[in-house]
Amino acid sequence: MTERLAGDGSDGWGTLFEAWQARNRGEDVIILAIGDPDFGTPEPIVDAAVDALRAGDTHYAEIVGRPKLRELVAARFSAQTGRAWGPEHVMPFAGTQNALFAASLCLLEAGDEVIAFDPMYLTYDATLRAGGADLTRLALDADDGFRIDADLLAGAINPATQAVVLNTPNNPTGAVASVEELEGVAELARRHDLWVIADEVYSELVFEGTHTSMAALDGMAERTVTVSSLSKSHAMTGWRIGWAVAPPRLIGHFNDLGMAMAYGLPGFIQAAAAEALATQDTAVDEMRAIYRRRRDLAAEALAGIDGIDVLVPQAGMYLMVDVRSLPASDDGFAWDLFRSTGVSVVDAGGFGPASDGWLRLSFTESDENLVEGCRRLRDYIASLR
Ligand SMILES: Cc1ncc(COP(=O)(O)O)c(C=O)c1O
Repeated sequence: MTERLAGDGSDGWGTLFEAWQARNRGEDVIILAIGDPDFGTPEPIVDAAVDALRAGDTHYAEIVGRPKLRELVAARFSAQTGRAWGPEHVMPFAGTQNALFAASLCLLEAGDEVIAFDPMYLTYDATLRAGGADLTRLALDADDGFRIDADLLAGAINPATQAVVLNTPNNPTGAVASVEELEGVAELARRHDLWVIADEVYSELVFEGTHTSMAALDGMAERTVTVSSLSKSHAMTGWRIGWAVAPPRLIGHFNDLGMAMAYGLPGFIQAAAAEALATQDTAVDEMRAIYRRRRDLAAEALAGIDGIDVLVPQAGMYLMVDVRSLPASDDGFAWDLFRSTGVSVVDAGGFGPASDGWLRLSFTESDENLVEGCRRLRDYIASLR
């Protein structure tokens, strides 16, 4: 178990911790390596938490979640999917991460296999293998923009396969799965009686294309666990509040796990989350507009550089740069860049071999810093020639 929780050992965040220390020492660094919004949580959400605390909401809360929050999540998911979901389909968790962990523990055990596509979010390896299952990683084609490939999945499914994990909109690629791509996976899931674990944490941050939930497709509601949170959409990473939407029977198992694991979430956090969902859509619109503007600024600043390709994202807060054709030391391009320029980015090889030789830049610094970071990257690349 401890070996499984350590994950596959890849050090994806690499330069980030070094960069934080450098920043604390007052050095000139630009940190484009983390998916944590640089703006504060909207005031009304903070006020709702403070009001709840002052009103004495400091006791155990229902393990399966507060009815109001469950209803709001269900209503939002109903509007998004065009299908009817009720509070009985919802359980709040301490972020998407916690909901993923719960899905892993309740759906997978030793002898099972779960399949995910590479590049894949860094925590999936440990999270999906924690309960004893084997994880098969299918490498998507970098030259095809890392689009979902159902044929690849079809070739990998075997009698041990229990679930498929799908992350759309995707971190790190920024791809929004089309209905056709989702249907390719859904058809296989129905045919082979598989669960789909759908990580949709970036669904509110779509710039182009339309986000479709796996659970919206015919025959998928009963075999899909959708996990998401307010971390990215409402700048609430530190609040640790998200949810799973799933068939009621699975919510029952989640409730059992919740009893054993955390004994519920703080009531004042759930009150704040309810406020966020009930009243803060405009704030989300504003944040989406900021990320979109930053995406365009970064894409413009990196356009036309010889030797690299930029994968302009349809959604999310990251942009991928292909530096496979450029020279790098044994430590890798991201470290070379950081040591030469103070710009910290993620070595996307940490998301799996499919994205070896790519960098992931995030839009979580100010516009000026983002553009300056891109300028330093451009100059650094020029200096390699
Ligand atoms: C794809 C993906 N899933 C899950 C998470 C975890 O999010 P949360 O803060 O909701 O636990 C992240 C955070 O970066 C992510 O990128």
